Amino acid sequence: MTRDMAQYDTIFKNATLVNQDGQGIADVGVRGSRIAALGDLSGAGAAEIVDCTGLHILPGVIDTQVHFREPGLTHKEDLQSGSLSAVMGGITGVFEMPNTNPLTTSRETFDAKIAAGTNRMHCDFAFYIGGTHENVSELAELEKLPGCAGIKVFIGSSTGSLLVADDNGVEAILRAVSRRAAFHSEDEFMLEARKHLRVPGDPFSHPVWRSPEVALNCTKRLVGLARKTGKRIHILHISTSEEMAYLADYKDVASVEVTPHHLTLDETAYDRLGTYVQMNPPIRDAQHRASIWAGVSNGVVDILGSDHAPHTREEKDRPYPASHSGMTGVQTLVPIMLDHVNAGRLSLVRFVDMTSAGPNRLFGIANKGRIAVGYDADLTIVDLKLRETIRNASVKSRAGWTPYDGVTVTGWPVGTIVRGKTVMWQGELVTASIGQPMRFLEALL
Ligand code: DOR
Repeated sequence: MTRDMAQYDTIFKNATLVNQDGQGIADVGVRGSRIAALGDLSGAGAAEIVDCTGLHILPGVIDTQVHFREPGLTHKEDLQSGSLSAVMGGITGVFEMPNTNPLTTSRETFDAKIAAGTNRMHCDFAFYIGGTHENVSELAELEKLPGCAGIKVFIGSSTGSLLVADDNGVEAILRAVSRRAAFHSEDEFMLEARKHLRVPGDPFSHPVWRSPEVALNCTKRLVGLARKTGKRIHILHISTSEEMAYLADYKDVASVEVTPHHLTLDETAYDRLGTYVQMNPPIRDAQHRASIWAGVSNGVVDILGSDHAPHTREEKDRPYPASHSGMTGVQTLVPIMLDHVNAGRLSLVRFVDMTSAGPNRLFGIANKGRIAVGYDADLTIVDLKLRETIRNASVKSRAGWTPYDGVTVTGWPVGTIVRGKTVMWQGELVTASIGQPMRFLEALL
């Protein structure tokens, strides 16, 4: 028998590795920032050997929708606090949204964010650039900038002033881009016409105002424009049964994101949490939630994003509709979903499919999204048996609260490894501020 006398910087030993194609016990050998070997490495040496017996190692979980509020809204969050919350929750990479102040809609604002994030954020990152009527002629160039996740368009208005409500505007953006573009799909004209349905002081009227038809109508318009222009669209945070059924027929052009919030909460949450569960598109009734789960089971859903949208307690405490829309979620994505895994609602392999293999497949992230030799050593190490209670006090987001305060879940991240460096281990920040922009196959230069 030949002994593997190879040397590694780190060997993660005896874990169950989970990839998009299945799972099994193996060691991971890391050299520098990359995975160098997989399998039985019992004969190999390493500067550090981490015993992972009883733990599962997943490809680093990538949260493809977060709002970290820098610049301009840093009383809610900044790139550092948001990414700290991310790595504490087992997230190794994020796609961050452009509804900042100023908006991220130009080369200058984008470059400033890259500079602000590099070696300051705790996880790797990419930034979306907002598509507008004004910057449409620059989008082809902007979407190719290193570290750009693509173009994001709000068709219905939410937090901030980004908005392209009309078909002509959306069509012009789709014609301009070549990469998959992401959309907040709620019909602005319908939202305007239905504003009177908001009942002051009653957040329960939020899903009445922003009804399933508002979302479905917009998604149908969007799919029509994608077919017309031959472009790929990514529809963020799908919240209705109707869209889930409709989108099953358009998997050629449309990819589908869902959030842990829409899978975990339903209308009954407004009774307990009021404006704290107000978000866009809204949390709806149990029938919609069941349909979103069906989309996870049948494969219509491609990807999971937290839509981490921090607001201060003061902003959430204002009487509806002055209360801000959005909830924190980047730190709770992994534990909330592992609890669903433990409850038998999805497999660990499907979780990996939606949180690392999915982002890799849809967005062509270079060297990330699977545990494979040559890939970045981005790993999310989880203890499926660990049972703990989610607490506001543990939330590292500047917002300092979570809709799951007091909820006990089984299955927690215990290690966050970014490009071979242990960033979080058992709830402690071990290596700070090594965040780098991600690279994309459609924009390698
Ligand atoms: O509820 C939301 N809040 N939905 C969004 O799409 C934006 C987000 C935010 O930025 O606050």
